[in-house]
Amino acid sequence: MDHVLALLLGYISGSIPFGLLLAKAAGKGDIRSIGSGNIGATNVLRTGSKWLAAATLLLDFAKGLVPVLIALAIFDQGTSLPEASWGPVPLAAIGAVLGHCFPVWLGFKGGKGVATNAGVSFGLAWPIGLAYALVWIAVLAIFRISSVAGMSAVCAAAIAAAVLGYEHFITVLAAIAVLIIWLHRANIGRLMRGEEPKVGSKT
Ligand code: G3P
Repeated sequence: MDHVLALLLGYISGSIPFGLLLAKAAGKGDIRSIGSGNIGATNVLRTGSKWLAAATLLLDFAKGLVPVLIALAIFDQGTSLPEASWGPVPLAAIGAVLGHCFPVWLGFKGGKGVATNAGVSFGLAWPIGLAYALVWIAVLAIFRISSVAGMSAVCAAAIAAAVLGYEHFITVLAAIAVLIIWLHRANIGRLMRGEEPKVGSKT
């Protein structure tokens, strides 16, 4: 029962489409008809509003962080493998990412999960979150391409879990990384054609 509740908690939190709601509230229209059509902060930035993009980033981060922290506080997680790999805490984590990527309210068409997975990573263990943030920021600073930074960061979280000894979080972070990279397949296609826009470009 704890497992189902944790998954639902994560999913409901993750499914709140902050980018869509904020862009609409600010009179920018439907974010799904702008730029890449994604509901995340990178695409909200293409409306021209840095504040709106920053708010989307923060709220999408929080909706990953909060359910994981709640799950850690109220559910008996344990750390013995293999059960702990799919215990309530990892389920709240993947639930939040699934909620963001496949929100029931938007016909299961949501975002790509990079900001939400940043919150999830910090919630699971701050050193994993720190690795995520450092790789995200460093790759973004070097390449100025959001999708490359996001895909690098999600891989860094799974690798950090392995290297830093969080064995019970490796499986869920690796599964999330595979999902998020798959959701970036259109970005990967644009990258291979040299057409992926840099951060801040309006296309
Ligand atoms: O977090 C999403 C980002 O990695 C790519 O966004 O709008 O360029 O597809 P976008």
